[in-house]
Amino acid sequence: MRVLAIETSCDETGVALVEGERTPSGFRFNVLGSALLSQAALHAQYGGVFPTLAKREHEKNLPLILSQALQNAGIRSESASLQHTNIDCVAVTHGPGLEPALWTGITFAQKLAEESHLPLMGVNHMEGHLLSSLVVDGNLEEVEFPVLGLLISGGHTEFVLMRDWFVYEIIGTTLDDAVGEAFDKVARLLELPYPGGPQISKLADGARSKKQSSDVALPRPMLGAQSCDMSFSGLKTAALYALRGKTLSDDEKAAFAREFEDAVGDVFISKTRKALLQTDAHTFVIGGGVAANRYLRERLTHMVHDEFPTVSVRLPELSITGDNAIMIGQAALARALTYGLPTENAPLKAVGNLSL
Ligand code: KG4
Ligand code: ZN
Repeated sequence: MRVLAIETSCDETGVALVEGERTPSGFRFNVLGSALLSQAALHAQYGGVFPTLAKREHEKNLPLILSQALQNAGIRSESASLQHTNIDCVAVTHGPGLEPALWTGITFAQKLAEESHLPLMGVNHMEGHLLSSLVVDGNLEEVEFPVLGLLISGGHTEFVLMRDWFVYEIIGTTLDDAVGEAFDKVARLLELPYPGGPQISKLADGARSKKQSSDVALPRPMLGAQSCDMSFSGLKTAALYALRGKTLSDDEKAAFAREFEDAVGDVFISKTRKALLQTDAHTFVIGGGVAANRYLRERLTHMVHDEFPTVSVRLPELSITGDNAIMIGQAALARALTYGLPTENAPLKAVGNLSL
């Protein structure tokens, strides 16, 4: 089965053509072609994603990204139609995300599906992050359930327990900001460009290798709480107060970035330990943009290996941690290969706060 997938939930415009089949223990995928365009540099001047600009850019770039993805797959499409291309379905992210941005993808996908007489599937962006993070060498196979997923992105921070394919329970979530948002805001306080996560991570790694630590101690919010819920707004505010009116040297900035990343790491270690103790998870996986963070990946992997030796750890390939359409194609295929393709095209709606 072949799916053409479209992702426009935030500031990445992505299109991917993905092929998939059911196997005895899961699914096997093959990416036939994909194209991705990041708008991050355009949003940098606003210090975050500006929804109207995101919408305009998606609208402008979708036709271009579609033809690039098809070209990568070796498909020549003179018209906007996908007929005679062996594509079985058009899939598009319908939430969660920024609604104006989501609508551009939905409208584009709907038109494409209609003109090509193909079924249209709405995909949950977080299911895309979660399932694609479990994929190893194109295979979503031999997954030992239950799976505990820690989804960490610019909009989400949550523990998802997956007892079987497509059966989800949120067992912990941030009560305020998402962790990616906190990374981006603290980066802004340190006058680092958007998106700040990778910048903070680079500085923090440098401080660690030079053994430089900050004289500021940031809080580790909600460590004492029994639940797996988290909070990052207090950490952000503490960073704001600690930095107010100060001019930091490059070394001091790096040491501060390290202290912030250490605080986030301590929270995730403690909450992941709680989540694993509370559940009978056999697999632990992390997903979402922040899952690219080298330090968090290493700390979490070591803790699980040391303290939960029977739990297997899956880490997403770095190429798919950020938003992309390949993950949307994989999630669509997993569903379509399990439940079949949609038989009629009910109109899709953008749902900004769609949950798993
Ligand atoms: O999943 P994603 O691409 O978009 C959303 O769905 O939100 O996540 C974007 C977030 C941004 O906040 C970005 O700063 C963060 O992921 N991020 C990182 C790293 N790479 C991206 N945060 C920490 N360390 C990184 N290496
Ligand atoms: Zn995302």
